[in-house]
Amino acid sequence: MDVIIVNDNLEGCTLGAKIISDVVKTKSNAVLGLATGKTPIPLYGELVKKHNEEGLDFTNVKSFNLDEYYNVPPTKEGSYHYFMNYQLFSKINIKKENTHVPNGMAQDVEKECNEYEENIRNAGGIDIQLLGIGRDGHIGFNEPSCSLTSRTRLEALMEDTREANISDFGSIELMPHYAITMGIGTIMEAKEILLLAFGESKQDAVKGLVEGPITSMCPASILQMHPNVKVIIDIAASKKLSKIDFYKEKTKLIINNEK
Ligand code: F6R
Repeated sequence: MDVIIVNDNLEGCTLGAKIISDVVKTKSNAVLGLATGKTPIPLYGELVKKHNEEGLDFTNVKSFNLDEYYNVPPTKEGSYHYFMNYQLFSKINIKKENTHVPNGMAQDVEKECNEYEENIRNAGGIDIQLLGIGRDGHIGFNEPSCSLTSRTRLEALMEDTREANISDFGSIELMPHYAITMGIGTIMEAKEILLLAFGESKQDAVKGLVEGPITSMCPASILQMHPNVKVIIDIAASKKLSKIDFYKEKTKLIINNEK
């Protein structure tokens, strides 16, 4: 796991966008695993900028999002379909039919989840998976105590997660209780993983992810077992780590390689 410490979220998102755009430049039909939430918004802004100003081409790119709220129509503002269209898809030249977000309105949820997995496999697997992290250590909506080999499925959201995401729906009463999420096993099959975490509220989650024991109580900690993970954090999120000097040295190396 490469831990990269940057000054702030903008620096982190600019670096993250560069890493993703390099994948797209190297492989024009790259398969991207995408995340929603507040964290990646500036990263999507950077990708849009690279598309507009540098001609970054998404014509043959496919994407699979991590999750979608259950029973929320894709046209509703809090839905992750809406988020992705607004933040990215409508602003770049990706083909609509090449973008995938779980269907939170599916009548047969098990079928939807199995087909989602099958579509990822048929696309050749995910080349790079972008992740945020919840304050409780969740990735996707794989909450503490989940199976570390889980697949795409319907999951319940913890109260802390519902509270953290209130701004999606305006009030706790309107926040969904369930979501369809890629599983931990699904995420772990991505060839490369890029996780972003910024701000003080992510300190405990980052500590568990990077230095904690591997435990389902911090689902992100399983990423320690993945051979190709970059974790980009800002100084505020790094505060509880014990090996900060080492990560800073490594950061210099990695940033020099990215230039
Ligand atoms: C979003 C997702 C979640 C978020 C996490 C952090 O698709 O899967 O795991 O990445 O809840 O959210 P933010 O970025 O809003 O702090």
